[in-house]
Amino acid sequence: MIVPLGCNWVVKILIVLACCLLALYFFLSSLPTSSIRLSSSNLYCPISPLSNDVQLILKTTATEVLENLPVHLETTLRCVPNYLIYSDHAESLADIPIHDALSSLPTVLGSPRPEFALYNHLRTHGRAGLNTTLTLNTTSAATLEKWKTIPTLHDVLHRRPTAKWYVFIDLDTYIVWPNLLAYLSRFDARKPWYIANRAHLGNHPQVFANGDAGYALSAPAIRKMLAHISLHRKNFESLIESEWAADILMYQALKDVGIEMFSSYPHFQGDAPAGLNFNATQIGRQPWCYAPVSYGNMRPEERRALWKFEQGWQRRWEGSGAVLRHRDVFKGLVLPRLPAARRGWDNMWWNLEREEQEAWFSFTQCRTLCESLAKCRQFAYAVGKCEISDELTLGYETVKGVNWLKSQMPDVTSGWVVKRFPEYVKKMDLSCERHGGNDWVTT
Ligand SMILES: *[C@@H]1O[C@H](CO)[C@@H](O)[C@H](O)[C@H]1NC(C)=O
Ligand SMILES: *[C@@H]1O[C@H](CO)[C@@H](O)[C@H](O)[C@H]1NC(C)=O
Ligand SMILES: *[C@@H]1O[C@H](CO)[C@@H](O)[C@H](O)[C@H]1NC(C)=O
Repeated sequence: MIVPLGCNWVVKILIVLACCLLALYFFLSSLPTSSIRLSSSNLYCPISPLSNDVQLILKTTATEVLENLPVHLETTLRCVPNYLIYSDHAESLADIPIHDALSSLPTVLGSPRPEFALYNHLRTHGRAGLNTTLTLNTTSAATLEKWKTIPTLHDVLHRRPTAKWYVFIDLDTYIVWPNLLAYLSRFDARKPWYIANRAHLGNHPQVFANGDAGYALSAPAIRKMLAHISLHRKNFESLIESEWAADILMYQALKDVGIEMFSSYPHFQGDAPAGLNFNATQIGRQPWCYAPVSYGNMRPEERRALWKFEQGWQRRWEGSGAVLRHRDVFKGLVLPRLPAARRGWDNMWWNLEREEQEAWFSFTQCRTLCESLAKCRQFAYAVGKCEISDELTLGYETVKGVNWLKSQMPDVTSGWVVKRFPEYVKKMDLSCERHGGNDWVTT
């Protein structure tokens, strides 16, 4: 058959066009849709009957939202079906509403007070008002915190009356969601529970919950406390005025209705893995063998790294019934980052006595001293100072990190005795055997 010339051209053009469309199709399908599908199928979230019964509440202030919230949204919150965010300023981030913790205050507690300067300023000027020195006053944000506590509880119960558990965390707290669900499922949520990490103020007898670690309240605990407060509103206002921090206020308000804090150390943890001594003993327990439910004081990049590690770990052990322990975090995230020496770095835990003055002369002499003592595992040197320890901790860079002695010793070099790591890990692992397989603190 003879095909006319013109028609041949049309066929050629059609073929080219078809090829182009095909190429475009493959190009487009390799773009967003495919990567979204990939990432969500890569997401490990626990399947637990309690998942929908736990209401997570994130407490924040307008001054830290932009720095700290996005990482939550990209990591742990992807697995949490019910969460609410409370701040001192109502706004929304990526379509997630951030509620004003104080919006119900006039009806709950009476007229506003002088410490509401920051709040009122934000109400008038919005986020743009953050540029002024007034709102950068962190003392004022902290003072406001205790006034936010009770109105937040009211609002949470109003928005989510049916949850069994209400878990409160700060925006720099990391929640190990699978462990939180596993832990809470061991308590009877029909009873009033206040599960937290005990804290002291130095030698002060006042006990309270370490808010950095977060805490869990069962629904009956919140209801009992709020009922009591609405009956004794005047007394409560004076309680708020007399206590200086939200955490102490909470502890006291629950104690007033007969709900004692249940100390869950070391599940709820106020320190980040980098700042934590994994052998720190409290109430006869060390973190190492137990499961972390939270880590407090986490920088955004630390939370991102822990999320990546946790996701990998959960996927690797999926279906095995294994529970992530503090020791897994130490072995996976801390240990690989302990080099022989690190300049401009503070490893933070020094607990051994030392007498040799020569050690103060140089980093090398400080190391020699540490290596000469059988139990020394890490040390830190700054001009004229050598500190040694039998702990193993990572710590932070001295420039912007947590640093006890920043003012006296700006140039700290930390060192670790790497050859002693295996013995430490082995000893710590062996210490878990006396738990007899009981890994959860419930009594
Ligand atoms: C905030 O302050 C900076 C300078 O400190 C200024 O350049 C900027 O325009 C201010 N922004 C607002 C919203 O006022
Ligand atoms: C910060 O706020 C507190 C209480 O609201 C106030 O006493 C203090 O003077 C303020 N500090 C500065 C530097 O403005
Ligand atoms: C951990 O701390 C306890 C004391 O609290 C101590 O007896 C034990 O030797 C320490 N473990 C290691 C491996 O240093």
